[in-house]
Amino acid sequence: MIEQLALLGGKPAVSIPRPHEIWPPPASQVELEDIAEQRNRDISIKGKSGPIKDFEEAFKGFLEDKIKFTVSFNSGTSALLAAYFAVGIDAGDEIIGPCLTFHAALSPVYLLRAVPVLVDIDINNRCIDPTKIEERITSKTKAITVVHQWGHPAEMDAIMPIAQKYGLKVIEDCSHAHGSRYKGRLCGTFGDVAVFSLQANKALFAGEGGILVTNSSMYHDRATLLGHYRDRSKDEIVDPNLQKYWVTGFGLKLRMSPFNAIVAKHSLNHFPLVKLGRHTCLKYFIQRLKEVEFIEPPFIADNVDMGGWYGFKPLYKQERLGGISRNLLIAALKAEGMEVDAPSAPVLSTLPLYNDEYSPLFPLHRQSLSPQTQVNFPIGTQVENEALSLPTFYDWEVHKPIIDQYIDAFKKVAHFKDALLELADSRTL
Ligand SMILES: Cc1ncc(COP(=O)(O)O)c(C=O)c1O
Repeated sequence: MIEQLALLGGKPAVSIPRPHEIWPPPASQVELEDIAEQRNRDISIKGKSGPIKDFEEAFKGFLEDKIKFTVSFNSGTSALLAAYFAVGIDAGDEIIGPCLTFHAALSPVYLLRAVPVLVDIDINNRCIDPTKIEERITSKTKAITVVHQWGHPAEMDAIMPIAQKYGLKVIEDCSHAHGSRYKGRLCGTFGDVAVFSLQANKALFAGEGGILVTNSSMYHDRATLLGHYRDRSKDEIVDPNLQKYWVTGFGLKLRMSPFNAIVAKHSLNHFPLVKLGRHTCLKYFIQRLKEVEFIEPPFIADNVDMGGWYGFKPLYKQERLGGISRNLLIAALKAEGMEVDAPSAPVLSTLPLYNDEYSPLFPLHRQSLSPQTQVNFPIGTQVENEALSLPTFYDWEVHKPIIDQYIDAFKKVAHFKDALLELADSRTL
């Protein structure tokens, strides 16, 4: 006999106590000692030296030495601002990007008085849909931002020719895609500039931090000058015409702290194990989710490698569970002891920054922002409404039993669908 739903007073299907996803994992003793030692050696690194240099050089190795320049920043958002600035994004320019992703992939362009132009996503890989890019290109379009969403690479063989045809720059936002590959080639090695967030939730993390990578010395110089005045610019700028700005840079200080660089270097060392763990756990999870009729597991194309695999967001097919709302499903699953939620990021066109008619940043300038609200994004909206956020499991020994219990919980909810529907009627959930 199956125990009653936990939401209705039964025993929860998941007996293993939460939290189920502990991330980032605790530091090793060596990492803690490195941090302690740095405390008394140098707590502000102005040039490219010490742990900053160590991490940046190690990151080149991580990208298999396919990249000439790596520049660290205090966040992925800062690195993205530097990337847009580096490729010359200017007032009035339009930047094509996906409608459903973390906003910081595109929001920094507003500071350059440019405008994101949103494009719907692909239902499978959740990245920008290349078949919908060309219809959004105008004479003002200057760049395409590609986000390899949740670690799944975007369809680069379709995107790069469009960029070439229209002479557009390509910015790769690899914040979810450390170590991901498209047809064997590493994400971050396709575009003019790529950025990796190293924020604490990422598979490769510094705590707070980001790294910009490029093969262009001009983009390197411009990105460096935007966020690294004095020593770093003095020593690193290649172009003699830009070198003269070393004292001031271009006005900002966006450098990473040495402590974050130490954390990042250790995270890089552990990355192969994290990747292996995530692939083992999440492929198993996908396999088992096929037993749950109302869940569409995440899609993984045959020709990609998910790398660090940032997030695990299957879709809930409400019509296959009698129309029970996602909110009620989540409540029932939480009561069963699962760690589950709706992802927090909405379609970007719904956010005030994206649908204001004029820039709130430059109110006196009155530049029209061509608000994004006139365009519909059916796939982005569908994913926003259907996605479930589940833990990105990575430790086979610890997480395999949890995955099994999650499958039990899903099945239990399906078994008691009618009871849930009754509850929905009585509570208008
Ligand atoms: C796709 C994407 N781009 C950019 C960022 C911003 O990175 P950060 O939080 O390091 O500023 C994030 C952060 O989650 C992200 O998911």
